Amino acid sequence: MSKIDFYHVNYENLVINLEPSMNQNHPFRQDTYFGLTVDVLGAGKNCGLRMARGPLPTCRPSHIAIRGEQSTESHMARRKLVYEGKAKILYEGPEPGTLVQYFKDDATAFNAEKKDIVEGKGVLNNRLSEFFMTGLNTLGIPTHFIKSLNMREQLIRAVEIVPLEVIVRNYAAGTMSKRLGIEEGTALPRPIVEFCLKDDSLGDPLVSEEHIIAFNWASQQDLDDMLALALRVNDFLSGVMYGVGIRVADFKIEIGRVYEGDYQRLIIADEISPDSCRLWDLKTGEKFDKDVFRRDLGSLTDAYAEVARRLGVLPENPVPIGKPTLIN
Ligand code: C5P
Repeated sequence: MSKIDFYHVNYENLVINLEPSMNQNHPFRQDTYFGLTVDVLGAGKNCGLRMARGPLPTCRPSHIAIRGEQSTESHMARRKLVYEGKAKILYEGPEPGTLVQYFKDDATAFNAEKKDIVEGKGVLNNRLSEFFMTGLNTLGIPTHFIKSLNMREQLIRAVEIVPLEVIVRNYAAGTMSKRLGIEEGTALPRPIVEFCLKDDSLGDPLVSEEHIIAFNWASQQDLDDMLALALRVNDFLSGVMYGVGIRVADFKIEIGRVYEGDYQRLIIADEISPDSCRLWDLKTGEKFDKDVFRRDLGSLTDAYAEVARRLGVLPENPVPIGKPTLIN
């Protein structure tokens, strides 16, 4: 393998990250452009993200610019793995107190009983989570997101994860419908916040505030802060998505603790993406979230790409592949 680990190619206004060391086990649909093997995500109007993998060309084509030879930003092999979860990997970051969060294409449901590789999911979730977290940061709702690194990775603040999943529900669905016998799609009288213990071996059980305090998973002050954060995220997400014709039926967030001098505070961590939300078209009710995978309703990538397209994080109209230009 060459020492070069990060290419940046601009095909007119399509930016292509070439990350040869990345996730080689999960082939994308491949095309060849200018002698390079390029992974193509999406099709037709959604075709806009391309990523190359596999062996580097033995000689660098003259139109390819190289950014950051020996960069550690996108070279996974040299980095220290901190944690690997079902959909993401965390690597040690470049500065103390930072991590690199890598989004995989693995899709799991029903506590990992159902599994698959969904081509391009990681790229879309990285982009969408960046979009939502940036919006929250801008509004003063603190998150772990620092900056995007490339199509699958973002730099985040290291946090101590509170061992609770915080679920906000606006419409009945999923386990709430099952547990309480409320028809899916029923509007709830107000947003309802639930806490589940993060424990895969127990199936992330729903827990009460009494449990949380008694077992010391979080303090009363933490609970008050988490509730306030969750409702602020709900207002933001519901508003943004309503603007693009999508209803946020429910979502899950994770919350992390950061220490700043003598103080500690809670910030939004993990990811916000269609993997962790229920997103329904306002008019038709079509699902654009992980239920497409859970219930075998069609292409998960198409569903997530539709969310990305409506939010403007994918190009509305594909740019025909023209002659590439050197950008640095
Ligand atoms: O399964 P349930 O109906 O409780 O899920 C509520 C919301 O939380 C859904 O949007 C689901 O995608 C999300 N969730 C999640 N991770 C879990 C459990 C739920 O992202 N472990």
